[in-house]
Amino acid sequence: MKKGNLIKLKIEKIIFGGEGLGYHEDLAIFVPMSVPGDILEVEIISLKKSYGRGLIKSIITPSEDRISPEKISFEDHHGCDFAMINYEKQLEYKKTMVEDVLSRVGKINLEEVKIAKTLGAENPYNYRNKVVEPFARKKGKIISGFFKRRSHDVFEVEENILQSKLSNEIIVRIKELLNEAKLSVYNEKAHKGILRHIMVRTTSFGEAMVVLIMKGKIDDKIKGVLETLYEENSKIKSVYVSINSKRTNFALGEKNIHLLGDTFIQEELNGIKFNISPTSFFQINIDQTKKLYETALSYFDGIKDKVIVDAYSGTGTIAMILSKEAKEIYAIEMIQSATRDGQRTSKENNIENIKFINGKAEEKLVELIENGTHIDSIIFDPPRKGIAENILQKLSETTISEVVYISCNPSTFARDTQILESIGYKLREVSPVDMFPNTSHIEVVGKFVKL
Ligand SMILES: C[S@@+](CC[C@H](N)C(=O)[O-])C[C@H]1O[C@@H](n2cnc3c(N)ncnc32)[C@H](O)[C@@H]1O
Repeated sequence: MKKGNLIKLKIEKIIFGGEGLGYHEDLAIFVPMSVPGDILEVEIISLKKSYGRGLIKSIITPSEDRISPEKISFEDHHGCDFAMINYEKQLEYKKTMVEDVLSRVGKINLEEVKIAKTLGAENPYNYRNKVVEPFARKKGKIISGFFKRRSHDVFEVEENILQSKLSNEIIVRIKELLNEAKLSVYNEKAHKGILRHIMVRTTSFGEAMVVLIMKGKIDDKIKGVLETLYEENSKIKSVYVSINSKRTNFALGEKNIHLLGDTFIQEELNGIKFNISPTSFFQINIDQTKKLYETALSYFDGIKDKVIVDAYSGTGTIAMILSKEAKEIYAIEMIQSATRDGQRTSKENNIENIKFINGKAEEKLVELIENGTHIDSIIFDPPRKGIAENILQKLSETTISEVVYISCNPSTFARDTQILESIGYKLREVSPVDMFPNTSHIEVVGKFVKL
């Protein structure tokens, strides 16, 4: 077989990462956007000794679990790599993916750990409360959207299926205004031009923050566009410009300049109102976050009167929910604005038993332990790269018996599980939570106890 060949392939299963897997003359072929049960015509795009990758050319017989078989590509599905699978099946596949990575990477015996059914969403669409889209120019017009797979070519969709309706509405309007103002679009290669990204954050109260990310200086044209947008739409409560003058893939830049309205927007979780500024981490699917936190809290063997560390705390959402019952919480977070938002929120909600610590968890948590601070339990919620290894090693020197671990990346969760198990912690339960319906991403919560 050669690159460019067309083959007929039956998809057998979905592997971690979301691609379908089928076998052609014993060679494993991975196919994005495919569904188990599909019989496909596939074009081979790369070949290695033990496996190959292919793209769907046509669907010969669609899987029973496939919705809208006339839509084939990533772009047809708005950049959502699971949107072609019926929702109940997405949840099943996600559980299987978690089991697969836990046994392969985490070396977990699946007979000994309770892995719950994936907690699904009531509404798998329009759930995203934060959107960041790159700008591009197509046929003379300013557009925004998503990068095509493995490319920096932008494609535009009219009504994105995952984004909140309010952010869709705002993005459509700002593009009209930017086109009227005839502004230039940033070009990565030349490092020239102005408009880089548009970010919109929305809340369950139907309010929005708009951040225009650009290179250069704010001039009257930019101000004019943003003022018109703000004046026309009373749901927009806060407007920023973020200046990003670097050659980088990061959207937000080095300076976030507050231009109009409030400096933050508010979201409510468990009766607490949280302040969110442009750089603060905040969970992107609020309904599912409630389920995620509920599950995480249920994994503590009681919270009352405990001293708990919320490591990688963001704006302190979990700390604040725990603070209702716990004796004391240490909330450790690296981004200063998130720590500040947390401090402000706790003041406004009269919460007095959280100590906010700004800094890296790998330094600050280790300091707490080395200073002999009494800690009953830790909840970790790190970014995709997982928990810093020195923290896990430090835990082996403590008597902390309970660890709850929230992860948006099951493969680093599995890697850390193996380390935790090697220092005496036992993984008892895992719950996959579908924070990102219609994509292959999956969040997990794990409960570890020291024997
Ligand atoms: C997945 S978020 C969790 C936030 C919070 N628990 C929540 O649910 O909103 C991870 C957080 O870790 C922070 N972070 C990343 N690396 C860190 C580090 N080395 N030390 C401390 N915080 C870090 C990020 O800024 C982000 O706020």
